Amino acid sequence: MTRKRVLSGIQPTHDSFHLGNYLGAVKQWVELQKEHDAFYCVVDLHALTVETDPALLRKRTLVSAAQLIALGVDPDKCTLFLQSHIAEHNQLGWIMECLTGFGEASRMTQFKDKSQKSGSDRTVVGLFTYPMLQAADILLYQADLVPVGEDQRQHIELTRDLAGRFNSRYGATFQIPEAYIMKAGAKINDLQDPTSKMSKSAASMQGVIEIMDSPEINAKKIKSSMTDTGREVRFDEKEKPGISNLLTIHSSLSGRSISELENEFEGKGYGDFKSAVAEVVVDYLAPIRTRTLELLADESALVEILRVGAAKARVVASETLVKTYKNLGIVT
Ligand code: TYM
Repeated sequence: MTRKRVLSGIQPTHDSFHLGNYLGAVKQWVELQKEHDAFYCVVDLHALTVETDPALLRKRTLVSAAQLIALGVDPDKCTLFLQSHIAEHNQLGWIMECLTGFGEASRMTQFKDKSQKSGSDRTVVGLFTYPMLQAADILLYQADLVPVGEDQRQHIELTRDLAGRFNSRYGATFQIPEAYIMKAGAKINDLQDPTSKMSKSAASMQGVIEIMDSPEINAKKIKSSMTDTGREVRFDEKEKPGISNLLTIHSSLSGRSISELENEFEGKGYGDFKSAVAEVVVDYLAPIRTRTLELLADESALVEILRVGAAKARVVASETLVKTYKNLGIVT
């Protein structure tokens, strides 16, 4: 039996991934690579929708690849590569743009949110066509599953629509992918504003746990996180969003169930609970940070891993592009 295909991507827009990226997505990448034919990429072209200094983009791309490996993405078990190394992403991206309605693209909530924040004069066209490039990332590899956090659901829906539309107009070409979204961890919230998602673009980083931050800083952020009224450590997203978020984080990292944790902290206050969460997070992240720094110390070895990954990815991507061109009537 052939293994199912998996594809996912992550943007190198910051110096560190945060806990939401890991628990919402990368943790599943690591699980899925065991039994699936997995393709994972750092989507550096998507990161160009935000103006970045070239030296910083380079640094962040490498730190992203290193963090993925340190978090358990294993280049011997999956194909790990940079999006920009495979020209077919842009080529299929154009075809996806020609298939997408203007109104359909205008309804993407991430585009609406981001463009509203920066105003139309400062919003680049690439932000508008972003989901079509994302669709190309997925469809090029004929992915069955796309492990992502909840915030990507709409982009995966669009990808499914585009694949179905292409297949019905031009004949079976693309596998229709499915979003793979875990219940726990699909939305990790900000520690200071526990009803909003933890995000790289948060106004303040006080509520964002970054993998590359020092253990001291992360412990402090957790201990000073916003909690709710009352004293009881109980999972209740409506009444206790702060405590529920911390319970999700603890449970996802320690592997212990939420109800087990509720029992353990029965009768104890928020302070004890937060200290325990801080300990779990720090113990989990410290070796990952160290390993990331080790990988970054040998940059040429890291780049070589990405080159090997690109060579594997290119085989699949070019096959899909040739098929797509043929079905479209492009002379090949
Ligand atoms: P990006 O780089 O913003 O985020 C990477 C992954 O992290 C997940 N995530 C979260 N999950 C739970 N809680 C949070 N607070 C949280 N914040 C982020 C995201 O859902 C994502 O899975 N458009 C994508 C990148 C992309 C992609 C693709 C993904 C480009 N091409 C193809 C899958 C397939 C993005 O911006 O992810």
